[in-house]
This record gives sequence, structure tokens and C-alpha cells, in this order.
Amino acid sequence: MTIQTRSPSTTTSIRHFLDLRDLDSATLRDILDVGRSVKAMQNDRRVPMHPAHPLAGRTLGLMLSKPSTRTRLSFEVGMRQLGGDVSVLSPSDMQIGRGESLADTARVLSRFLDVLVVRTGETDMIRELIRWSSIPVVNGLTPDSHPVQILADIMTYEEHCGPVAGSHWAWIGDGNNVAVSLIEGAVRFGFSLTLATPETMKPRQEVLDWAKAEGGKIRLIHDPVEAVRDAGCIVTDTWTSMSDEESATRLNTLRPFQVNTALMQKAARGVLFMHCLPAHIGEEVTEEVFESPASVVFDEAENRLHAQKGLLLWVLGGENWRSFGKPD
Ligand code: CP
Ligand code: NVA
Repeated sequence: MTIQTRSPSTTTSIRHFLDLRDLDSATLRDILDVGRSVKAMQNDRRVPMHPAHPLAGRTLGLMLSKPSTRTRLSFEVGMRQLGGDVSVLSPSDMQIGRGESLADTARVLSRFLDVLVVRTGETDMIRELIRWSSIPVVNGLTPDSHPVQILADIMTYEEHCGPVAGSHWAWIGDGNNVAVSLIEGAVRFGFSLTLATPETMKPRQEVLDWAKAEGGKIRLIHDPVEAVRDAGCIVTDTWTSMSDEESATRLNTLRPFQVNTALMQKAARGVLFMHCLPAHIGEEVTEEVFESPASVVFDEAENRLHAQKGLLLWVLGGENWRSFGKPD
């Protein structure tokens, strides 16, 4: 990856979305509320959208260096439902693959597109694109975070259980990119979170320090049973993320962190089970839990669409973006 030293974009009002911590709590709350209203309008076709296609004439670029089902589909469908267009870009088919710099790529894409969603195996790549881009750049997953996933998770929790503020969640397993964004989400949305991870797979210290400085109620332990005590929502994820090397050592280390029925029974009555998907049944979660009434994983997948429509309206909707969630 080439990092340029010439002058980057100096526009500071661009609504990039790199991490949840970059936005204040009120804006994040509004994004979810707009997403929820737009979901209700989409599902009730008798109510006209206001205006019918708020993002007509805008084009979203999806630049995906890693595989994706939900992120690709939810951004494509969401942008089209809002009246906009989509261009899917595979970096291996672009001139980046032959050495064109990210600085030049970002400046060219900025001349064609209105927003760029990026999934990358290198966090520095998205930072460099942001540096040079004069259009908003949205994080569609890096090895360090997955913030759009957590917007969908919180929307899903609230649909099932009411306001998330004051609730208690547990994260079981690898302290990975999704766990990091869940920590940031817990701080910004005001819920407490206990993470049980192996000693060698803790979330990075920097995010724990940030959460502490923000007054977040985040606890890191290594005992899954203790972590789920009183939890209203239990979240896990794959034991081998796209940026990890699969190994027997890794899987053996994580085996005591499987979410199974015995663990679910230690949590609060009515506890939800969440997983960003794709799931690996028999590893991080048993089939019994995955297919149980507690599991809301497909609501969670669908809500990627609705939460991200709220996000796209914030990113592209200008000063009146909140009004798009209101019928005429
Ligand atoms: N949860 C999620 O981001 O799924 P994809 O990898 O399919 O996009
Ligand atoms: N932690 C997983 C999330 C996939 C959506 C990964 O990075 O592969």
C-alpha cells in the first residue's frame, strides 16, 4: 500500500463514518430512529416516503476487498430503495491492483461517486482513502472494527426489548472487530457490557482505555458464565475472522467460549442471542441456541438494511436529514 505525502482533502465537514466513537450519542440515536421510521414506511406501502426517493441522482460505491453477503446486499438494496444508484468495485479489478495510489484512487472516485463504502483487510487503507476523499467514506468492516453491524444489533435489541440504555449485554469469544464496535456502541448508547474472552484474545487495550475515559460500563473477564449473569443479550462471532489465520490452537483456546444452552440458561429470563453472521454451528454457537426462540440473528441481518438507510440519510441527506424519517 502506497501512502502519499502530497496535500490531502482539507474539507472537514464531510460525514465520514469510520467508527461509532466518532459520532456523538444524539446523532447515533437519530440515525437509528430515522432508520426505524424508514423501515416502517418501507413495510407499509400505503405511506408515501418523504420525499419518495431522497437519494435520487446519488451514487454509492461499494469497494470490497473481502467477501461479503450482508454488507454488500444491505448497502445495495438500501441505496436503491432510497432512490440512489450503486457501483460495486472489486479492488483486485481496479488499477490499485497494479500500483495506482490510494490518494489518486480516492480523488478519482470522488469525481464520480457521492459516497464510498469500504471493506478492507488493512485499516490504514480506509484511513488513507478518508484522507484524500472529498466524498464521505463509510467503514464496511476492517480488522479493527465493524460499526454498521452494531447499529443493526442495537436496532434489533430495541425492537425486541425496548430502550437499550441501561440494559446489560455479554460478549463471548474472540475480542475481535465486532467486539470493539460493540464496546463503542455500549458507551455511546449507554448500556453495560461484559466481555468474556481468552486472555490472549482481548479487545485492543486502546479501546478499553477509551471506554473507561468516556465513563463506559465495560468489564473484561475470562469466565463466560460470570459474563452472562443478568445479561439481556448475548453476542458472539466467528472464532476465525477474515483477518485471522485459522489454527487448531486458536479453536482450542476458544472452545470453552461456545454459546450453548447451558450458558444461555445462566443469563436473564428472556435473553436474546445475536451473531453478526456468517455463523459456524458447533464452534462459537450450538445449533440448539442458533435455532432457538432466543436467537434473533435473521432480524439482526435484516436490520443491517434499515439501520444503514438511516446512516446513508445522515451521510448524504444534508441538514434536514432527520426529516426523511417523517411521512408527508
Ligand atoms: N455481518 C456481516 O457483515 O456479514 P457479511 O460479511 O456477509 O457482509
Ligand atoms: N469478525 C468477522 C465478522 C464478519 C462479518 C470477520 O471479521 O471476519
